[in-house]
Amino acid sequence: MHQIEMTVNGQVMRAEVPAETTLLSVLREAWGLTGSKLGCDVGDCGACTVLVDGLSVNACLLLAVQVDGQEVLTIEGIGGFDYLHPIQAAFERLSSIQCGFCAPGIVISAKALIDKNPHPTEQEIREALAGNLCRCTGYTKIIEGIAEACRIPAGTDGSA
Ligand code: FES
Ligand code: FES
Repeated sequence: MHQIEMTVNGQVMRAEVPAETTLLSVLREAWGLTGSKLGCDVGDCGACTVLVDGLSVNACLLLAVQVDGQEVLTIEGIGGFDYLHPIQAAFERLSSIQCGFCAPGIVISAKALIDKNPHPTEQEIREALAGNLCRCTGYTKIIEGIAEACRIPAGTDGSA
């Protein structure tokens, strides 16, 4: 067993885990942060996307011990019923999401993009979501929602 400690959504969290425990497992099962979803469990779907030290990662592919001492941001840390992140608010306004299973990962991937590139082109948004699968929407409203959150018109390349 391994003692781990990391800062999750601004709060120091600790657990004792076997070496093979994934970051996703410890988030969901030890700490009750079930917003990050278990989809494929092999790095294909992006439903488990979280930020580790500001970088978007698939939490199903990382071992919890690899993240020891680092900062993790999950969907629970960027918005809630009382305060929606601008990406979430845009998704709500545009009805971008259907079943919602992909949404936490997509919001996190979009946040990672906007944090480093506040005015992405539509192509850059599409590239940022390349690792996030959505079975319901066809992506159009999701792309539009992220573009709206950045206040750029979707369907343009973002240039003047
Ligand atoms: S559950 Fe992690 S990528 Fe699908
Ligand atoms: S809204 Fe259902 S998987 Fe994306």
